[in-house]
Amino acid sequence: MDTTITQSIISVRDLSKCYWIGKVPFPALNRVNLEIYDNDFTVLAGRSGSGKSTLLNIVGALESADTGEVVVDNQNILQMSADQRTQFRLQTIGFVFQAYNLIQVLTAQENVAYVCRLQGKSKLESLEIAAHWLDAVGLGELGSRRPNQLSGGQQQRVAVARALATNPKIVLADEPTANLDTVTAQKLVCLLQKLHDDFNTTFLISSHDPDVKNASSRLIKLSDGHVIKRWDEALPPADPTQLSCPIKNLSLSQRLRRLFEGNPAQ
Ligand SMILES: Nc1ncnc2c1ncn2[C@@H]1O[C@H](COP(=O)(O)OP(=O)(O)OP(=O)(O)O)[C@@H](O)[C@H]1O
Ligand SMILES: [Mg+2]
Repeated sequence: MDTTITQSIISVRDLSKCYWIGKVPFPALNRVNLEIYDNDFTVLAGRSGSGKSTLLNIVGALESADTGEVVVDNQNILQMSADQRTQFRLQTIGFVFQAYNLIQVLTAQENVAYVCRLQGKSKLESLEIAAHWLDAVGLGELGSRRPNQLSGGQQQRVAVARALATNPKIVLADEPTANLDTVTAQKLVCLLQKLHDDFNTTFLISSHDPDVKNASSRLIKLSDGHVIKRWDEALPPADPTQLSCPIKNLSLSQRLRRLFEGNPAQ
């Protein structure tokens, strides 16, 4: 049996995408090929404009492509109808956006519960799931706050809780630390790494952040819409001391508490 094919959870083949403004083309992806394997923690690197967001948006069925094939969790997503794409996003993908994209009129708990409601869960169950995930990201006591009553780091953790609350196989995160200060960004990276270690979830994260790259098990670099570099061999496990969170040997709840203890405002 070909184990490479069996383990691959995202397959991108000859993917191209060009944006047009009037008659002017803006090529974003040019015949991109890559494989992401089950339970990887992959970082997508590359300069601004290299195509990272475009690739994540296509893999997350948020955008269409011009040519190529994208198979995610055995589903050919470029062939899907709009309804199938919506279901695919709800069942398979958790998306963390750079700008958080929280609903301002809802509380943190309601923001997380909302995606569970979309999955068809009852209101009570959705709120319970939301409380669980807010607790897991260290925000158990802030569920009743609205986004504008939370710091940037807290809002991004709500967004992470929302991404995980639907129990997705894959989390796509587009520059999740870009709007955070260095310390808060490091904590978020540790959190993502812990969540990856403890739940059998595949992470694909676009980032310029060296801490995110250090935490990754694979790195793929884009330039001008091409894949120019990849470490397809598994890297040695990241040294948690370099992330200022030497917490690898603790249980999840101990680690999360340690991670955020003393400064819930971050
Ligand atoms: N809606 C759009 N219309 C026109 N061109 C676009 C559009 N979205 C992206 N592009 C272009 O496509 C290319 C890839 O953009 P993309 O946003 O994927 O890059 P990126 O690697 O995510 O950059 P950044 O690091 O700044 O977020 C860029 O040249 C960009 O200008
Ligand atoms: Mg981008």
